[in-house]
Amino acid sequence: MSDLPLASSPAHRRHGSNMGQPMTRRDGILKVTGSATYAADNHPEGMLHAVMAVSAIASGRVSALDVAAAKAHPGVVEVMTPENRPALAKDPEDRDNPFMFRLDVLQNDRVRYANQPIAVVIGETLEAAQEGVRLLSPKYESETPNVGLDGAESFVPEAVGPGAPPAASIGDFDAGYADAPTRVEATYETPPQYHNAMEPHAIVAHWTAKDRLSIDTPSQGISAALGRLSGLFGIPVENIEIRTPFLGGGFGSKGAVVSPQVLGVLAAKLVGKPVKLVTRRDQMFGPVGHRAPTRQTLKLGIGEGGLLGAISHHTKTLSSAFDEFFEGSSAASHTLYASPAIATSHEAVRANTGTPMFMRAPGEASGSIALEGAIDEAAEACGMDPLAFRLANYAEKEPISGKPFSSKRLRECYEQAAARFGWEERTLAPRSMRDEDGLLVGWGVGTATFPAVMFAAEARAVIKADGSGVMESSIEDMGQGAWTALAQIAADGLGIDIEELTFRGGESGLPDAGVAGGSGHTATAGNAIHAAGVDVVRKLAELATNDEQSPLFGAGNAGVDARDGRLYRRDDETRSESYADILARAGLSEIEGSGTGAADSAAQEHYALHAHGVVFAEVKVDPDLCQMRVSRLVGAFAAGRIINPRLVESQLFGGMIWGVSFALHEGAKVDRRSGKVMNGDLAEYHVPVNADVPSLEAILVDEEDPHVNPLGIKGVGEIGITGSAGAIANAIWHATGTRVRRFPVRIADLV
Ligand code: MOS
Repeated sequence: MSDLPLASSPAHRRHGSNMGQPMTRRDGILKVTGSATYAADNHPEGMLHAVMAVSAIASGRVSALDVAAAKAHPGVVEVMTPENRPALAKDPEDRDNPFMFRLDVLQNDRVRYANQPIAVVIGETLEAAQEGVRLLSPKYESETPNVGLDGAESFVPEAVGPGAPPAASIGDFDAGYADAPTRVEATYETPPQYHNAMEPHAIVAHWTAKDRLSIDTPSQGISAALGRLSGLFGIPVENIEIRTPFLGGGFGSKGAVVSPQVLGVLAAKLVGKPVKLVTRRDQMFGPVGHRAPTRQTLKLGIGEGGLLGAISHHTKTLSSAFDEFFEGSSAASHTLYASPAIATSHEAVRANTGTPMFMRAPGEASGSIALEGAIDEAAEACGMDPLAFRLANYAEKEPISGKPFSSKRLRECYEQAAARFGWEERTLAPRSMRDEDGLLVGWGVGTATFPAVMFAAEARAVIKADGSGVMESSIEDMGQGAWTALAQIAADGLGIDIEELTFRGGESGLPDAGVAGGSGHTATAGNAIHAAGVDVVRKLAELATNDEQSPLFGAGNAGVDARDGRLYRRDDETRSESYADILARAGLSEIEGSGTGAADSAAQEHYALHAHGVVFAEVKVDPDLCQMRVSRLVGAFAAGRIINPRLVESQLFGGMIWGVSFALHEGAKVDRRSGKVMNGDLAEYHVPVNADVPSLEAILVDEEDPHVNPLGIKGVGEIGITGSAGAIANAIWHATGTRVRRFPVRIADLV
């Protein structure tokens, strides 16, 4: 995206401070009017259409493809199979780091999961390519697939999530559990989930020269994608252009290069023309990642006054037959509740499935739903109010590491959300509340947490002769509003009005903005952008304060403030000078600065860095039909400095709605015999629609964090999901007296 027209809200704008203002999205009007150009909307001259053929079996080999029949179709240009697929410079099964995944790009006839790409048909039209795929009539030699958590022998993975150890402990769990007067043991199951962003994975790939590649594709991490493609195709990073101006969601699945993108580039190479390849909706269930299922066993030992004396959290999960990504669900128990003894562990199996990946709040989403359920069961076992139980076990330090939190206003979250929700009216016993229509009413609570993660980013800032500013960094906006929030930071860093800012992101060739993931994009890129702006201001101040003709002469660098495109003497605000005048007198057409943002290793060493929050849920359950509805969610979140409360509220709503989905709707059904996802489309893979979305409130609790990073930003992308799913499940128990430990909760579970 270059030079987006601004659509800010002047009524909310204060001069000199854009951070903290609820501006509307800069790209909002383009999106809602259909004038935003997504990757698949690009049609370079001479472009052909590629369609993937995918495997109907989950394990075995492709024994025959009728390539001749497909090629005989008048609109089919070429069929790409393992026989003629262009060579790669690097084995697609290699991976160099935990953010890279092994690919299925027609390296052989082996099938490792259902929906694995087995051929690509390239046609003059989409319809011709689709018809060509049908004519391939694949034949298979099928083997019995390993499916689900019990389909193969289990093992302890080397790492979970992107590189965390699979087990951790403090204290003596066995002794603490054995001695506890009250014990709770519960096993929770979460299903496989698929990202299903509105915009599927897509690519328009164009080889503009033998060793030059130009592509439009949605990406949450442009520089990582550059590196991956450079390695695979054996061309320098500088020879690859990636444009990812608008994304229709990502949820983690666009954080790494996936097989369909590489197949699009290979197809373009094979035919020597630009090629578009869009992943069909049902093809999203396999080659582009998912959240693996989990089975989690929690054991809680509870002493006098409801104090936790021992917590163990064991997760069984799965990865694909050929690659490693393990959902690190047990880590949720490292942070949330104080206990002298904690033991977490993971085990896994390999299954004939596409490789799991990061999916919205990876680890914490599934882990917190089990932990919050077990904590609720512990409160029940002690006869305590579930909020009082959580407060009794409030962690003043991070339990597993013993480190102080860099900041933690979770207590204020509990207080504010409970007051807003009216929690004190809750009756303790299940099935004890009804509404005026006789429906069972249940109130539940779930604590939310997510680590404040940072990656690495760079930004370049310029003030031009007319005093206007430019900020450049390859920011990826998945729809979360990054371009808006980060433009606010840019304007403040440069000390200019946001209307005077040109903001460039969303493409390669700009300074690396890092990954839009891990809830860390605003913190990482934001700090880089702010630093770049401050660098320019520092240079301007140096010019002015050393220039005898400037009203700022002699003020010293520390003695000036920057705002509205001017520098002001701090000790005498009547003495100021515009950026344009400073540059003109120095004879400069522009002045440039740069900045970086990265995790602070000292902060990481000394502090536990997490955002916190809580969600209170109200559900209504029909006592005869057992139909469940979430009627109300009230959350409160403390996540450091909030750059744009409007967008943050929207992010939190998105997370809370995902919690509704997790609790009541979403889950892939995998057939044990075929290994296929039986509900692999948007008609049968249920996600909440508007009618399922309750009244939502998200309170933003003020929190200043002096340690996490210079701007004090923790990130809000994923935390909303971590509290709400558990809160809803706990509310269902309160409404019905039935504790459902397998998600999503179904009517049949309550009968
Ligand atoms: Mo997120 S799962 O880091 O996009």
